[in-house]
Amino acid sequence: MTDARPRIVVTRKVAEPAMELLRETGDVFSPDPDRALPPGELQAAVAGADGIVSTLQDRVDGALADAAGPQLKVVATVAVGYDNADVRALTDRGVVFTNTPGVLTDATADLAFGLLLAVTRRLGEGERLLRARQPWSFHLGFMLGTGLQGKTLGIVGLGQIGQAVARRALAFGMDIAYTGRRRAPDDVERQLHARHLPFDELLRTADVVSLHCPLTPETRHLIDARALDTMKRSAFLVNTTRGPVVDEPALADALAGGVIAGAGLDVFEREPDVHPRLLELDNVALAPHLGSATVETRTEMALLAARNVVSVLAGEGPITEVKA
Ligand code: GLV
Repeated sequence: MTDARPRIVVTRKVAEPAMELLRETGDVFSPDPDRALPPGELQAAVAGADGIVSTLQDRVDGALADAAGPQLKVVATVAVGYDNADVRALTDRGVVFTNTPGVLTDATADLAFGLLLAVTRRLGEGERLLRARQPWSFHLGFMLGTGLQGKTLGIVGLGQIGQAVARRALAFGMDIAYTGRRRAPDDVERQLHARHLPFDELLRTADVVSLHCPLTPETRHLIDARALDTMKRSAFLVNTTRGPVVDEPALADALAGGVIAGAGLDVFEREPDVHPRLLELDNVALAPHLGSATVETRTEMALLAARNVVSVLAGEGPITEVKA
């Protein structure tokens, strides 16, 4: 009798409940879970796989699917963004590709707001001062930041995460504007009191510009020197989507030159590198790609990816498929 259990390759360490679920369905293999494998090693590792659980550090393309073999049925990425994947190449080979929308919405929105508060209220700067054991004393003009109440949040991409950021901003007394290729449904605009603006108008109007669009060829360097120059000098930029949506050297220039007031960044153009000039500036709050990094959220993400794999391998179809 042949062993009919499918082979499932999990490229990085994921939460144990997801591993348990996968083990109920197949033979699970994690080649080197603590390290992002370069494409050649990854391709060797997936040979013979029926299903792959990947992360945003893996290049998921036709070469990977070919290296796995014609039995490959599903690649489930533990992420909402999938600019690392060539979905068309997978679809052409009959491979289903899934991501993890929804389950990381609140965690990412929380982090975006955390960075916004960190930069507007100078929290990083204050902490650095204390840790450097610098002398300080309370006085009425000490380390003044910028309040958010009555200010306009300009959201680029009013998808699930953009909407969750808008809800938080409403609770902080902010006005909401957004831009995007499509108008949001009427009820979403109504609930968020959100007005749609053309991109440049949004840049001119917003006190905070928060990026929630996916990285695509159209959005690469959407925020470049021109866009930064269009923003108010008093405005802040928050990026929790993908680094390359922002031209990082142009942003460093803008922050150093007072073209905008500050930035909160969770993502970078060439992760794990951060533009060295950003590291020198006090008007930028930095986080190392922590948007979805809570125990609860990462567990839900891994479980959703695992459920997608299990469901496809059982012939029941994907739960959260990304269509080419
Ligand atoms: C994280 O960056 C994600 O896309 O889930």
